[in-house]
Amino acid sequence: MTSLEWLRGRDVLGTAGLDRENLDALFASARRMRSIVKDRGGTDLLRGRVLANLFYEPSTRTSSCFVASMTRLGGSVIPISEVRYSSVSKGESLRDTVRTLEAYADVIVLRHPEEGAAKIAADAAKKPIINAGDGPGEHPTQALLDLFTIREELGRLDGLTVTLLGDLKHGRTVHSLAKLLALYGGRVRYVSPEAVRMPDPLVAELRGRGLAQSEHRSLDEVVADTDVLYVTRVQKERFASEDEYAKAQGSYRVDLATVARMKEKSCIMHPLPRVGEIDEAVDDDRRAAYFRQVENGMYVRMALLAAVLGSPA
Ligand code: ASP
Ligand code: CP
Repeated sequence: MTSLEWLRGRDVLGTAGLDRENLDALFASARRMRSIVKDRGGTDLLRGRVLANLFYEPSTRTSSCFVASMTRLGGSVIPISEVRYSSVSKGESLRDTVRTLEAYADVIVLRHPEEGAAKIAADAAKKPIINAGDGPGEHPTQALLDLFTIREELGRLDGLTVTLLGDLKHGRTVHSLAKLLALYGGRVRYVSPEAVRMPDPLVAELRGRGLAQSEHRSLDEVVADTDVLYVTRVQKERFASEDEYAKAQGSYRVDLATVARMKEKSCIMHPLPRVGEIDEAVDDDRRAAYFRQVENGMYVRMALLAAVLGSPA
């Protein structure tokens, strides 16, 4: 079985089970998808296949990226991005909702505010579920596109020093990314407001996987030898009160002075949306990779959808 065949019919709930071989194969496929899109806009690999895009939380990128990816593969999409206009607002359970959608679709992409929701959906459904973010849990397709972006920006994944800045407690993207980085033997540095530190159980789990980790009081301590600066926003919607959010918010900002201290060959990433953590003046620096990261998401999700639906490129 090739590495892409391994994905056929699988749920993608987190990063577990992905290894370097699967990732290499997926990234090679993403590069082929990029060529296809650049040369002719798309392909009909998934003609006749249907994706249900079920979003219980706001999204700009992930939601529209899955629509674009499926469309460029020749498939079609059932978009449910406003669950309040669906029967969810009548009290229908997640389980019943996915069992209904799988009657119409071949794959379900789910974003939900509760950690573990993707697993509940996968247990209820026979068709593959792709987790597009489950509360503060995981966001595996973001981690895939993040890793692909690092590889394309820096030309390697092994032995990098990656600084994760921001809300490391609630940030699902950093949870998933750190797990994948553990496969490549680098160092990860954590810089966060005190209230939103990387959770201890996750730090212990990553230690068990051999990831070298350290925590730092400020970005100043680590910025000069960072290869990848991965910035995140404080996840306002995860706080119990405005007061608690206010305590964690606004204590860091990446600006041109920060960037001036970075290595020539390094990159700045952000899953977006940003709400002030990166000064817009930074956008013109060639190390600012966050909009290339957005574009890469489409090639990676095209590769993933084609593999999960059994027609890899
Ligand atoms: N868009 C990412 C997520 O949904 C990051 C964020 O919202 O800050 O997890
Ligand atoms: N990166 C990301 O998940 O963005 P959205 O929340 O806009 O989907």
